[in-house]
Amino acid sequence: MKNYIQISNKIKKFNNTIEVSGDKSISIRCVLLASQAIGTSRIYNLLESDDVINALKSIKKLGINYKKLKKYYEINGFGLSGFNTNNKIKIDAGNSGTFARLILGLLVNSNNQITLIGDSSLSKRDFSRITKPLEMFGANIKSHNTNLPVKIRGSEFLRPIEYSEKLGSAQCKSAVMLAALKTPGITKIVAKKSRNHTELLFKSLKIPIKVINRKNSDLIEIKGHHNFKSFKYNVPGDISSSSFFIVLTLLSENSKLKIRNVNTNNSRLGILKILNKMNADIKTTNKRNYKGETISDLIVRSRNNLKSINCPKNLNSSAIDEFLILFLAAAKAKGVSTFNDLGELNKKESPRLNIAISFLRKIGVRVLRKENNIKIYGNPKLYLKGKFVMKNFRKDHRVFMMTCIAALSLGGKWKIYDRDSINSSFPKFLTIIRQLGAKIN
Ligand code: S3P
Repeated sequence: MKNYIQISNKIKKFNNTIEVSGDKSISIRCVLLASQAIGTSRIYNLLESDDVINALKSIKKLGINYKKLKKYYEINGFGLSGFNTNNKIKIDAGNSGTFARLILGLLVNSNNQITLIGDSSLSKRDFSRITKPLEMFGANIKSHNTNLPVKIRGSEFLRPIEYSEKLGSAQCKSAVMLAALKTPGITKIVAKKSRNHTELLFKSLKIPIKVINRKNSDLIEIKGHHNFKSFKYNVPGDISSSSFFIVLTLLSENSKLKIRNVNTNNSRLGILKILNKMNADIKTTNKRNYKGETISDLIVRSRNNLKSINCPKNLNSSAIDEFLILFLAAAKAKGVSTFNDLGELNKKESPRLNIAISFLRKIGVRVLRKENNIKIYGNPKLYLKGKFVMKNFRKDHRVFMMTCIAALSLGGKWKIYDRDSINSSFPKFLTIIRQLGAKIN
């Protein structure tokens, strides 16, 4: 099958209800925690994307069986010492930074050397942010200049640590939390605010955890070596995947979209807070609590009077996966938007800050950059004519999806390469886009 798509027409007005696939962060955490539980866990609505499938295949290599049934996945854990790490094993995390970082946390007590590899994008990403704290627990780790492959051999004599997480990275925080699970004693973490799915899962599994929320950071204490029982979990829809449809609706004409069962956990709400400050008026309805997570239905309407934003830095971590699509909204808003301190964006599946700037310039948007701060000069009349080709973006799934939304909402004749990139996080993306009436070849 050809690995590009062509879009030659803007999407026509639509009025639909959709449901996106399960949240990626929660799906990976459920697989990992089920692998450490005692008994058979059932995970409903698990995201079936390459990142999650790689997590399943990897726990299988570590001796944990899973089965796909009609409505759920079953995962059979044997408790905290249930991984079979007696052999030298190689684990392939594919494109997934989340899985790669989190699994290392669970391997701090491995008996033998485990080698972690990944695809060419993941192999360029920094692992020292994880290996440093994991070494403090007592694990022995070797990496290739802070990159993959990482080789980890655990220790029998783990000691709890006090760790300050300053990047606002939920991956770092969660890797340390998972290592704390394996370590006797109390691990203390002061973490800059970031998504809190691991904390909520620990609480719902009755793992001894204390969280004190402060203004810009959280103090987390975990008592390790506490076995927990298998569980059932129904993964809510992913707000990051929803964000592409939200912006498509905002930028299209006379359209309305309801997205059902979306995770609207406060630590992920940056995208909605930012868009609503831009005059978007996205409604969250039918709010309910599920094991500490908040789930809602979102209602979005087209908006031809978006205004610019001076984006508060304290929303950076919460909207970290949504900036590409937010920049597109800013390009069509009235006025100059500013986004500051976005160095972390260049550390994702691709250097997203650099890629976003060259993308915006390619479609005629003025962007000024100073270090990791950017100004986007919005134009409510922005529309595209002529031919555009998008390639060489390190197969970054979110770059691919953002480009599709730009093509469908701004016009132009597009050829967009690396269609298979969406398999990392959202294989159903193009199916849902077509459901809304888009013509894609
Ligand atoms: C994730 C955390 C974020 C995010 C990633 C998923 C997670 O990374 O970009 O897609 O599931 O914990 P950082 O925590 O490193 O910012």
